[in-house]
Amino acid sequence: MLKIGVLASGRGSNFQAIIDEIETEILPASIEILIVDNPEAYAIERAKKHGIAYLYINPKNFPTKEAFYEKIRDELLLREVELVILAGFMRIVKKPLLDAFPNRIMNIHPALLPSFPGLHGQKQAVDYGVRISGCTVHFVDESVDSGPVIIQAAVPVHPDDTEETLSERILKLEHRIFPEAIRLYAEGRLKVEGRKVKILNYKLPDTYFTNPEIRQ
Ligand code: GAR
Repeated sequence: MLKIGVLASGRGSNFQAIIDEIETEILPASIEILIVDNPEAYAIERAKKHGIAYLYINPKNFPTKEAFYEKIRDELLLREVELVILAGFMRIVKKPLLDAFPNRIMNIHPALLPSFPGLHGQKQAVDYGVRISGCTVHFVDESVDSGPVIIQAAVPVHPDDTEETLSERILKLEHRIFPEAIRLYAEGRLKVEGRKVKILNYKLPDTYFTNPEIRQ
């Protein structure tokens, strides 16, 4: 059973999707700890409801960002966490945590990286006028939203979309690909080679979609 630690800052709907797949035994993992940087995070309520240990770590209590991440690292190592999940954790991860978990930190981002990194990926996509956007699960490295890509899922962007409507469409897929990426990891099927992540024993369909649809 893969031991995971989850870091979150807010609502925690991705955290919930992971809990659900563990409870229905689709995902062979156990959540050892939820760590939040925000005492108001709704993710805490979800942890309480499902009997998951949680910890609020206030970044303001540390003299540097590095010291904050040393504390997070120590709490994760104490619980023998093998994989760290950033489920809506709105901070840039620093060296002490990265060094302790090389290619063992996963993030979800609400855009098709490398497009629209950083905050408000969905708003960036709407404002830019792209016709397709989506979400990306990737390993975390020292830059923002830049590590090796594990899974991406695409959705159309409609002409009348707002940040809210596009976010809703993307979120449904986030809830599917994040637990799936963790499952592939738990099954030992992800192999990182430079920028690329190989998925062992996986056959991809050769298909496409366009927005708007084109004549075939
Ligand atoms: C999700 O849409 C996630 O992709 C995004 O924050 C939201 C968290 O929702 N993360 C980022 O933008 C990271 N750059 P949740 O708390 O309900 O899972």
